[in-house]
Amino acid sequence: MVGSLVVGALWAMLPAYVPNNAAVIFGGGRPIDGGRTWGGRRLLGDGKTWRGTLAGTLAGTLLALVLNRAAPVVEGLVGFVLPTFPLAVGVALAFGAMLGDIGASFVKRRTGRERGAAFPGLDQLDFVVGALGLAALVAPAWFAATFPPLALVVVLAATPVLHLVTNGIAYLLRLKDEPW
Ligand code: CTP
Ligand code: MG
Repeated sequence: MVGSLVVGALWAMLPAYVPNNAAVIFGGGRPIDGGRTWGGRRLLGDGKTWRGTLAGTLAGTLLALVLNRAAPVVEGLVGFVLPTFPLAVGVALAFGAMLGDIGASFVKRRTGRERGAAFPGLDQLDFVVGALGLAALVAPAWFAATFPPLALVVVLAATPVLHLVTNGIAYLLRLKDEPW
């Protein structure tokens, strides 16, 4: 059933959606690049910190464990089986999301964009690609079962919209400096 496939895939993405927001809330402190530059520009910039990366990874992993507990209840409501997260998958989705975001900052600095500058497309998909990529690497069988091609298309199409909405809310709550 297409509906259960789509809902299941979005459910499976939740541990990848929260890390960025947790990093915004709990981030700060020492930048990962330690202030280092490359070609006159920061390697990553002050917006990518150890604390934010750790907080994001922990938050996403924790959510995966909570979703495992919540799945039976939600399954009773929706009437189909939801994906569950082995610990390694939860970590991969959360840390992969952070890695994708860090990779995007690297690309932004190389292309001359200052911290906080928008890079439409990259900003909305960096963490999805990172999360899905690392999950596929760590747990190929789980990945193939959870994200058949149609589910991947839905996730890639829906995520930028969800991302813009959550970041817009974070901006209105003054948690983020820019709405992207
Ligand atoms: N953050 C963090 N560590 C991370 C990711 C984010 O501490 N690994 C925090 C930073 O305080 C950052 C904020 O979350 O400023 C917003 O994240 P993001 O928009 O990804 O960073 P920007 O500051 O916009 O920097 P960049 O241009 O590099 O994306
Ligand atoms: Mg930003």
